[in-house]
Formats: sequence, structure tokens, C-alpha cells
Amino acid sequence: MACTRSRVVGQGSYLPEKILTNADLARIVDTDDAWIRQRTGITQRHIAAEGEKTSDLGLESARRALAAAGLKAEELDLIICATATPDETFPATATTIQARLGMTRGAAFDVQAVCSGFVYGLSIADSFIRSGQARTVLVIGAETFSRILDWTDRTTCVLFGDGAGAVVLRADSGRGTADDRGVLSTHLYSDGNHHDALYVDGGPSSTRTVGHLRMQGREVFRHAVVRMAEAIDTALETNGLTPGDIDWMVPHQANARIIEAMAKRLNLPQDRVVLTVDRHANTSAASIPLALAEAADDGRIGDGDLVLMEAMGGGFTWGSALVRW
Ligand code: ACO
Repeated sequence: MACTRSRVVGQGSYLPEKILTNADLARIVDTDDAWIRQRTGITQRHIAAEGEKTSDLGLESARRALAAAGLKAEELDLIICATATPDETFPATATTIQARLGMTRGAAFDVQAVCSGFVYGLSIADSFIRSGQARTVLVIGAETFSRILDWTDRTTCVLFGDGAGAVVLRADSGRGTADDRGVLSTHLYSDGNHHDALYVDGGPSSTRTVGHLRMQGREVFRHAVVRMAEAIDTALETNGLTPGDIDWMVPHQANARIIEAMAKRLNLPQDRVVLTVDRHANTSAASIPLALAEAADDGRIGDGDLVLMEAMGGGFTWGSALVRW
């Protein structure tokens, strides 16, 4: 049956210039390159310069995504910025990006679902497009996690990095089948009972401070594998597809071991998995659009490819998306 689809028409990303290697970290906390590589697959991460804000990263990724789409900012109806590290408590970082892009119409807002933020943003954008409320939407994932890390805590500070990625979605007509190009389906979940496993110990209405990220890594790992597997199964079932139909898995980049476990479960060879965690570390909501932009720009992801995304983050929040490029 004829339907509206949200097709990806452009993507872009931006990483801050400064690179912090595992060896650099070993000079700050009691850790070493071998431990970090073996447990996480991470070798380095990018860190925003002094004064470089989430909106600066997001803006650059947005400009690149619009250029790739061949669109101007005034053609956008909506900007959604997924971030857990906004420039300020308010206004939304999305509105700062809107102003700096020179977009004076439409709407812009932030989405807060931590590492699942991009999948949440994609889902909201798709709903706006399918319901006819918007035709062209920019979805950004942008983070400066370096600002909320406790740089004396080796169990967390080695895991995260800064960066941004963006995609432009446009309304297109589809036939309502899994062969359509665009977002086929998104699946969002949360369970607030797991607050203590992953949170930031500050905020305007609790401590009036920004706070630092706290995580029970093992607990998160355990839930991530089970929850993301369920979300992937639901995405495939919804569209009448099987793991063999997936061309590319573009997962949230938290830990190479979690990603490998997911790929193995799907019987997906590693060369069908887009991996950036080794060079970017965990950039939270930015990790999926960063990986998407890398793989689309270097020609790995091509027109018509079936792309599976999945993510899990603080809350817990988690979700999946199937998109035909
Ligand atoms: N360097 C050296 N040793 C360390 C380090 C470090 N950086 N960090 C911890 N250790 C030590 C611990 O102290 C512990 O030592 P002990 O056995 O003497 O007590 C030992 O290493 C093992 O620690 P574990 O925490 O049990 O190690 P684990 O194998 O679970 O790996 C990790 C830790 C990498 C954090 C893993 O649990 C993980 O990736 N969890 C998932 C994180 C995740 O997916 N987050 C995504 C969401 S993030 C978001 O939403 C913002």
C-alpha cells in the first residue's frame, strides 16, 4: 500500500581535532593501553578544545549533511538534536544550531535518551514525516562527554569521546514494503528502574551542578546484550526480514566486545559491521551518525542497502531502526 517514507538524502560528521590516546590516558589515571584495548577495543578518542561546544560540533556535522544532500537550511522544517551534553541547561542546543545555520522557520528541539538518542531522534523525525507535519528533517547526534567525565575515575574516563554526526531525512513515496528506500521501522524502549547503573550525579534541580558520569559497567554490559538483541529481533520480524537480509550493522559504539557479540548472534561477518569505537570511543548519541557518515562517505553503504542500527544508553533506554539507504 502506498505510504510516505523518510529517506536519508545526506549525512555528515565532525570530530574535534585533538586526539587523546590510551598512552595519554595512562599518564592521567592508573590504566594501560593493553587493558583498554582488550576490554573495549578503544585505542584513542577525540576531545573538544577548550571553548568548543556541543553546538559547534553539531553545527559542522549539520553543514556537511546539508551539503551532501544539496539542500539549504531554509528548506528544513525541523531540527532534532540528540544530546546528553547540551551547551546550556536551556535553550535546546538544536535552537543554537538552527540560528547558526540561518534557519528562521520551522522548529528545533533536543532529545535526551543518552546513547540511544540518535535512534530516538530518527524515530521522532520519521513520525513527523509520516504524519505530514514535516517534509525535511535534520537529525543530529552531538556530544561533549569529556565535560561530564570524572578524569580521576579510570573505570569511566577511558571509555568516552566527543563528536557529532547528522543525517537529513526527506519525505518520499513508498509502496509499504521492505524494498522501499527510507526508514522501514524504529523501535524504542526504556526502563527507568536501572537509573543507578548509569547516570550523571548532578543536574539543575538536584545538585545545581553539572555532575559526573557514574556507571556500573558490568551491569550495563549484561543488559545491553539482552535488550539490544530483543530490539533487533523485533525490527526484523516487523518487516518480515531475516538476519541474512542485513547489508550493514551500524551499532552504537560503546564496546567492541558488545558489538562482536551482536554480530555473532546475527551470523553477520565482521566486514558487514561498521566499527568506529576503536578510533572514536563511545560518543553516546553521536556514535551511530558518525559511523553512518563514515561508511556512506567511503562508499561502503550504498543506495538500496539495508542498514540495521541499535543502541543502549542511560535510563536504561534502548532501541533499533531498520533503514534502507
Ligand atoms: N584500567 C585498568 N584497569 C581497570 C580499568 C582501567 N581503565 N577500569 C577498571 N579496571 C579494573 C577494575 O578495577 C577491576 O579490577 P579488580 O578485578 O581488581 O576489581 C577490573 O579492571 C575488571 O573490571 P570490570 O569493570 O569488571 O571490567 P569489565 O570486563 O566489565 O570491563 C567495561 C569494564 C569496559 C566498562 C565493560 O563492563 C563495559 O563495556 N560495559 C558496558 C558499557 C556500555 O555499554 N556503556 C554503554 C552505555 S554508555 C551511556 O549510555 C552513556
